[in-house]
Amino acid sequence: MGKKKNIMILATKIIFAVLLHFVSSTANSTSSINTQSNRKTTLRKHPRGPFLYPPVQLHLYDNYVVVDNGIFSITIASPEGAITGINFNGIDNILNDHNKNTDRGYWDVNWRDPSKNSKDNLDKLAGRQLDIIVNNENIVELSFKRPWTFPQEDDHVSLNIDKRFVVLRGSSGFYSYGIFERLKGWPDLDLYQGRIVFKLQDKLFRYMAVSDERQRIMPTFEDREKGVPLEYPEAVLLTHPSNSLLQGEVDDKYQYSTENKDNRVHGWICSDPPVGFWMITPSNEFRNGGPVKQDLTSHAGPVTLSMFFSTHYAGIDLGMKFRDGEPWKKVFGPVFVYLNSVPAEDDPVSLWVDAKEEMLMQTESWPYNFLNSSDFPRAHQRGLVTGRLLVHDVKLAYAKDAFVGLASPGTPGSWQEESKGYQFWTRTDEGGYFNIKNVRPGFYHLYAWVPGYIGDYMYHSIIYVFQGSKIRMGVLVHKPPRNGHTIWEIGVPDRTAAEFYVPEPNPTLMNQLYASQRTESFRQYGLWDRYTDLYPDRDLVYTVGVSDYASDWFFAHVNRNVGNKTYIPTTWTVLFDLEDVVTGNYTIQLALASATGAEVQVKFNDGRGAYPPFTTGLIGRDNAIARHGIHGLYWLYSINVLHSQLLAGRNAMYITQTRGSSPFKGVMYDYIRLEKPPY
Ligand SMILES: *[C@@H]1O[C@H](CO)[C@@H](O)[C@H](O)[C@H]1NC(C)=O
Ligand SMILES: *[C@@H]1O[C@H](CO)[C@@H](O)[C@H](O)[C@H]1NC(C)=O
Ligand SMILES: *[C@@H]1O[C@H](CO)[C@@H](O)[C@H](O)[C@H]1NC(C)=O
Ligand SMILES: *[C@@H]1O[C@H](CO)[C@@H](O)[C@H](O)[C@H]1NC(C)=O
Repeated sequence: MGKKKNIMILATKIIFAVLLHFVSSTANSTSSINTQSNRKTTLRKHPRGPFLYPPVQLHLYDNYVVVDNGIFSITIASPEGAITGINFNGIDNILNDHNKNTDRGYWDVNWRDPSKNSKDNLDKLAGRQLDIIVNNENIVELSFKRPWTFPQEDDHVSLNIDKRFVVLRGSSGFYSYGIFERLKGWPDLDLYQGRIVFKLQDKLFRYMAVSDERQRIMPTFEDREKGVPLEYPEAVLLTHPSNSLLQGEVDDKYQYSTENKDNRVHGWICSDPPVGFWMITPSNEFRNGGPVKQDLTSHAGPVTLSMFFSTHYAGIDLGMKFRDGEPWKKVFGPVFVYLNSVPAEDDPVSLWVDAKEEMLMQTESWPYNFLNSSDFPRAHQRGLVTGRLLVHDVKLAYAKDAFVGLASPGTPGSWQEESKGYQFWTRTDEGGYFNIKNVRPGFYHLYAWVPGYIGDYMYHSIIYVFQGSKIRMGVLVHKPPRNGHTIWEIGVPDRTAAEFYVPEPNPTLMNQLYASQRTESFRQYGLWDRYTDLYPDRDLVYTVGVSDYASDWFFAHVNRNVGNKTYIPTTWTVLFDLEDVVTGNYTIQLALASATGAEVQVKFNDGRGAYPPFTTGLIGRDNAIARHGIHGLYWLYSINVLHSQLLAGRNAMYITQTRGSSPFKGVMYDYIRLEKPPY
């Protein structure tokens, strides 16, 4: 039991809930509900503590097991380890029992055998053996194992699989974690994605919540089937929705993506009876790509995921490649599936508020002390790394709100494409201080980046964290790339394109959720084609000192739609004046927030004096334009500009994205700066 839980022996709790016209057919109820109301809701919270609740019971049957703690019960196919039923609060099965047993609550991975050059395989990791790890009145922990045997008989990924499920007494939900292992000498493997999936009863769960702002009544699976697929199958125009209020909206699961650091609780609400189903991911230590990698959450179906690792918003390079018999082991999870309820007269949206509180409690209890696996170190078996980060650009300053993290040894910024190891990230405070807690023993590099500054920091030596270690790093100084004083700059160096101009969506391709929210309007579908609407004949021209990047710099450098599904490259122009040109080399710092099948070329004026002209070469597969991300991976180029390329007076910098043919090829800029020659 987490220490926190004993405090929770409160039979009722008063909270301020948000008001909802729930699943009623009132107009305007399809968009987000974030109006604060003063209505008080009594939440019937399940009291915690072993003595007030019946013991946990494990019932074994021929081909399934049931774990029941008096609050809910879970049915798991055995030895496969697929969840087929969750009974809670009078609902016989929360999961969609029209689906096959293997298609309700399950783990899966996507993988490829590089020696066969085979296509992508989906493996649902069906177990072959059930081990009862713990079975007493306070806790049941089950393990569904599938050892991999050589030679490979089936279409199974070459991993030893151990899927665990844990139910505690008095707890309104269950935990799941997985231990994946490869031994030395095993065949080559490409591993792209791993997750746990839950498919809920579509008649019951209609309202989805991903954050305070992002929650709404969702279309059903059938609504999507009857709709019209758009540029890719995940995006559907709802033409015949059962709820007429959804008529004409776009649904796309990628519109509900979230950065890892914010992807901690999301799920679904049933209004009758008022029941919530929530995926709580209390730590990012096992996720790949670092704190700002984006991934899926919940989406129409109704479906709820916890994505352990994937290539979403990053590209195929985030896939794990195992070669030359490399051994590997990693624990994914645990995640907590939380079930809650309120009395029928209460506002069902208060379940979201309660789920957020539960998420905070689960987060504070991390690392859990009740898992029976030596592969999951407990708090006292982990280490602490502390220090202070300063940033020395034009002047020395505290690195405030900086991201500081430990990840596998690599090169500056390599964490954003790292998937095999664990990562531990935190933010610095006002004074640049950081505390990285609960670090698993191992070898790491310490990485950082500071919003407001370009570049990546990496501490020069590898850090060895051992059990119980407290490592004080002292004062570290990040020196962002800079060759000379700033002449002009466009944007804010924060690794996103959010500060630039995000257009209104095409009115026939809207998700009403984002129509009411100015801040996340980049999540609308089809914004790539708005460039052609805004710049029908001539490409974007930005005049330094006159233009405003918030209104005059389109958020993505995309191709022009010239009709007939033809997209051609575009060239943007930055006009700027120089009083005089001094001898020495100028620098363009070009930071990209995303790139997909793109090549950016930069030249000045008539192109004289530079050979060869600057090009990034073909870069990027993060697909953030198509997936409505406002960033993908970060790229930084320091471009040498010979003074002979520049003129006293008016200059033009031409930026061409040369790869046409698709609406989704292009880049997002993070920040551009012209620097004087060094003194
Ligand atoms: C939705 O709400 C707005 C503002 O409250 C109102 O002007 C509009 O008429 C409503 N729409 C419908 C369809 O009722
Ligand atoms: C697992 O449970 C067994 C039996 O209760 C105990 O002996 C063992 O120490 C436990 N291991 C861990 C890692 O918790
Ligand atoms: C559109 O493209 C197709 C295939 O390239 C071509 O056959 C057709 O003539 C084009 N139509 C127009 C109107 O340009
Ligand atoms: C300017 O850049 C050119 C080309 O890279 C290089 O040869 C030259 O040495 C640089 N000049 C100075 C003053 O750094």
